[in-house]
Amino acid sequence: MSNTRIKVAVVYGGRSSEHSVSCVSAGAIMSHIDPEKYEVIPVGITQDGRWTVGESDPSVLQRSGRELPTVAFKRGLSLSVEPLTRGELRYEDGSLFATADVIFPVLHGRFGEDGTIQGMFELSGIPFVGPGVLASSNGMDKEYTKKLAAAEGLPIGREVILRGRTELTEAEKELLGLPVFVKPARGGSSIGISRVASWEDLPAAIQLAFEHDKKVIVEAEIIGSEVECGVLQYPDGTLVASYPSMLRGTSSSDEGFYGFDTKYLDDVVTADIPAPLPPATLELVQSLAIETFKALNCDGLARVDFFVTDKGPVLNEINTLPGFTPISMYPQMFAASGVAYEELLDILIQRALVRG
Ligand SMILES: Nc1ncnc2c1ncn2[C@@H]1O[C@H](COP(=O)(O)OP(=O)(O)O)[C@@H](O)[C@H]1O
Ligand SMILES: [Mg+2]
Repeated sequence: MSNTRIKVAVVYGGRSSEHSVSCVSAGAIMSHIDPEKYEVIPVGITQDGRWTVGESDPSVLQRSGRELPTVAFKRGLSLSVEPLTRGELRYEDGSLFATADVIFPVLHGRFGEDGTIQGMFELSGIPFVGPGVLASSNGMDKEYTKKLAAAEGLPIGREVILRGRTELTEAEKELLGLPVFVKPARGGSSIGISRVASWEDLPAAIQLAFEHDKKVIVEAEIIGSEVECGVLQYPDGTLVASYPSMLRGTSSSDEGFYGFDTKYLDDVVTADIPAPLPPATLELVQSLAIETFKALNCDGLARVDFFVTDKGPVLNEINTLPGFTPISMYPQMFAASGVAYEELLDILIQRALVRG
């Protein structure tokens, strides 16, 4: 292997509730990055926010049974933007660990997908995969995602935002109807989300959601299939939508919807790729996914999730750093569309380098 390989710092773990999911995604990414072309520098962030020299054996980052991995503490890294400007990652004692050419943040949720870490990367001047500050923070926030999408005429459902209050008015209950979904505004992996079928269960659901965020969204239930679509940006800026997928079995676990256990632990959800929908609907989902990507000013990649109702697709949410575990939808949808996992990673890294 030549020593001119591009050095990619894969940053994973982190302080969000999706720490473990990020570890599994990172394990898969590190074992699929082309070793002829790229050198991986694993950088793990512990659950309490310590930067460390990450796990270099990706197999440690696999799920085993119902156990999900976390970043095991190794040697600490010190972090300041000034040395990062040269791509330098230094040990806590100041000695050099590695110099990165590009950063691949494999972080989901708070402090990873919400623009905070992207701000640090932008200050540092090192190219990084995925969108910048504004798109990341809007994409993480389910209120602003929908506001920006709606401003472009994209279809969204009915919702009420709870900011600084914990109850719905009677008029709001009437507007939404039952059941409702109660969510932290900036959550992920279904953490803190409840489906509420009776108004007497609403206060507990709102309280749970507020444990995860200062802002809560209460949404009318949308009846439809869960259909997801990947968007990939090539180095020249071209946007391509993957075949959409349709999830099956999302309500077959105890949770009754696509909750955390259903997503990661219960092995009950399968996906049809392409979704078994008429070609015109598939095309509509693809074009809405690209429109949503643009409405949020994303870059590189996004997974856009819809409910396909009998009146057409309705936007649910966008993920600007979607799951990359071996069973995650984003890589699977692109594999089915002819872009293999290795190639997908290559395109994303090259896009980051071109954007600079
Ligand atoms: N308005 C809704 N109507 C019907 N189901 C919903 C609604 N909102 C969420 N869900 C269910 O809850 C799951 C998680 O909600 P989502 O908004 O996607 O949160 P997360 O960001 O945690 O993935 C969805 O995949 C779906 O199964
Ligand atoms: Mg979701």
